[in-house]
Amino acid sequence: MAAVPVKKAVFPVAGLGTRFLPATKAMPKEMLTVVDKPLIQYAVEEAAAAGIEEFIFVTSRGKGVLEDHFDHSPELMAALADKGKDEMAAAIKSWLPAAGQVISVRQPEPLGLGHAVWCARHVVGDAPFAVLLVDDLIHADQPCMAQMTAAYEQVGQNLVLVEEVPAAQTNRYGILDIAEDQGDFVKVKGFVEKPDPKDAPSNLSIIGRYIFQPEIFDFLAAQGKGAGGEIQLTDAMARMLTSQQFHGVRYQGERFDCGDKLGFLQANIALGLSRPEFQGRLREFLDARLKAETVS
Ligand code: UTP
Repeated sequence: MAAVPVKKAVFPVAGLGTRFLPATKAMPKEMLTVVDKPLIQYAVEEAAAAGIEEFIFVTSRGKGVLEDHFDHSPELMAALADKGKDEMAAAIKSWLPAAGQVISVRQPEPLGLGHAVWCARHVVGDAPFAVLLVDDLIHADQPCMAQMTAAYEQVGQNLVLVEEVPAAQTNRYGILDIAEDQGDFVKVKGFVEKPDPKDAPSNLSIIGRYIFQPEIFDFLAAQGKGAGGEIQLTDAMARMLTSQQFHGVRYQGERFDCGDKLGFLQANIALGLSRPEFQGRLREFLDARLKAETVS
């Protein structure tokens, strides 16, 4: 039987972003801008390119600007028209979702990623859905969520995006216990949240893209707090393995952890260098800078 297509995506954006203080004291981490676009827009555009039609934000107090960013802005459009900046106005219209496509729910307290996803249960309903963690920015020729939905058409059920991480860093990630490595896909036997390197079953880590069957909500509802005192998505996935399959999906592209200051700097340089209007001058600047650093 063909898999039910994925048309809904959940964007958990209710976290505190403490790793990025002081920038995130009064501004959502998801509005941090890589070159000229906030992280949330990269994720929404990636989802739209995969055929997603409903964008469900799980927000919290102080995150209203995320909804505003995707709202229509008549004053701005009128001002751009007055100034003859029609191309700029058309560019904005091209990525704005249609009325009703962005839906917000609140996570009243930051109890963890698993809890944030669970907060979207009534909006998702009885349908498969994607989850995108906005601070994992994935630069790829084929948008990453489209790679996942293509994989979903082949293997169905539940998918997580994966990549190899240094063995010494497994305690920062959700890690796969592998049943069978099939190359592009990895059949999963178990998940462990942030294992100590000596206990880690592999060095294949979960990256912030998922496709779930709606039964995940039953497992999220039942669970208590896990690693770090938070309600962990990985723990619910581990429990769901008793009744449904999960595959890890390897992807083509480059991931930047933009919830982390160094990853964010790297993303700005890499994406800046990929833009024809900046690459020449940016490369010149970096070359000169690196030469000066080496000399001094
Ligand atoms: P992180 O682990 O990056 O947590 O969450 P955080 O709070 O955003 O950032 P730090 O670690 O304090 O710097 C991964 C994703 O899950 C969301 C975050 O917004 C982020 O997109 N999240 C996390 C929630 O929506 N609610 C939570 O309770 C926790």
